[in-house]
Amino acid sequence: MRILSGIQPSGKLHLGNYFGMMKPALELQDRGEVFLFIANYHALTSVTEPEKLRAATRDVALDFLACGLDPTRSVFFRQSDVPEVTELTWLLSVVTPMGLLERCHSYKDKIARGLSPNHGLFSYPVLMAADILAYQSDLVPVGQDQKQHLEVTRDIAAKFNLIYGPVFKMPEPMIREEVAVVPGLDGQKMSKSYNNHIELFGAEKETRARIMRIVTDSRPLEEPKDPDQCNVFALYRLFASPEERAQTEARYRAGGYGYGAAKKALADMVWERLEPFRRKRAELERDPAYVEEVLRAGAKRARAEIGRTLAAARRAMGLD
Ligand code: ADP
Ligand code: TRP
Repeated sequence: MRILSGIQPSGKLHLGNYFGMMKPALELQDRGEVFLFIANYHALTSVTEPEKLRAATRDVALDFLACGLDPTRSVFFRQSDVPEVTELTWLLSVVTPMGLLERCHSYKDKIARGLSPNHGLFSYPVLMAADILAYQSDLVPVGQDQKQHLEVTRDIAAKFNLIYGPVFKMPEPMIREEVAVVPGLDGQKMSKSYNNHIELFGAEKETRARIMRIVTDSRPLEEPKDPDQCNVFALYRLFASPEERAQTEARYRAGGYGYGAAKKALADMVWERLEPFRRKRAELERDPAYVEEVLRAGAKRARAEIGRTLAAARRAMGLD
């Protein structure tokens, strides 16, 4: 089974990215061949400073390797090291109906947030379809917000295969229900663009301070509380073992457990559980040549794969 996912280097990664996409993708390393890439062509739609893009690309590389990406089993690369994907994007764009792209929420949201409605932003889902179809992916682990992009990918693949014959495999999204939408400090979807996020590798003081700002209701200490309605618990449960989770749920329901204590427990847990990742990341940071070598080797593998798909697509379309 081929599993593929990508993430944009457009800022520091946060707990929503980790639980929604990174962790599910990394767990699949035991079940199939995982392709993961840093979507820096996509990031150009929002990051216009070259130095910032370089730094964020390096950060994402370190983050994935620190969180358990195993380069001996998986293929990890920078999107721009495989420029063939832009050719495939063009081949797909000629079968992509305008209406399909016009309906995309993510495009409409980005415009509403003030990004310029340029062609790159509009055709973003076609590049994403090329990323996925290039490697004949079976499964694409993502958060809920990417679901529509997967539907667009499937529509494009179906249309291409109908016109030109069976070139592309139909990919399936994998959206884990319990982490489909990880809430942020205010209870909305955690996102760097809402500034309600908790960074995966933020400094301790900042991480604790942000956790203390999580929005709760005003129930007093003594009153029993519903863990399922609590933004603090929604994050706690992602880190906790089943026993820790049951214990804390019981505390909420019994009363006498205040939100201050719950936040402190969450902050301690976040800090402690991420410690091994932080250690690994610090190690990797001292060895940039190794990280570069991993990405280069990944790109080489990816180019061999996309080369086969592209040759088939070109042949099917009469470009050979
Ligand atoms: P952001 O909203 O912070 O810009 P991205 O759109 O770059 O995050 O998301 C990268 C990946 O992480 C995608 O697969 C996305 O579905 C996932 N993801 C982001 N935020 C969340 C969240 N709050 N809950 C679950 N998954 C998320
Ligand atoms: N659009 C995705 C996001 O913003 C990133 C991405 C680009 C991606 N290409 C992909 C995800 C292919 C999965 C598969 O998070």
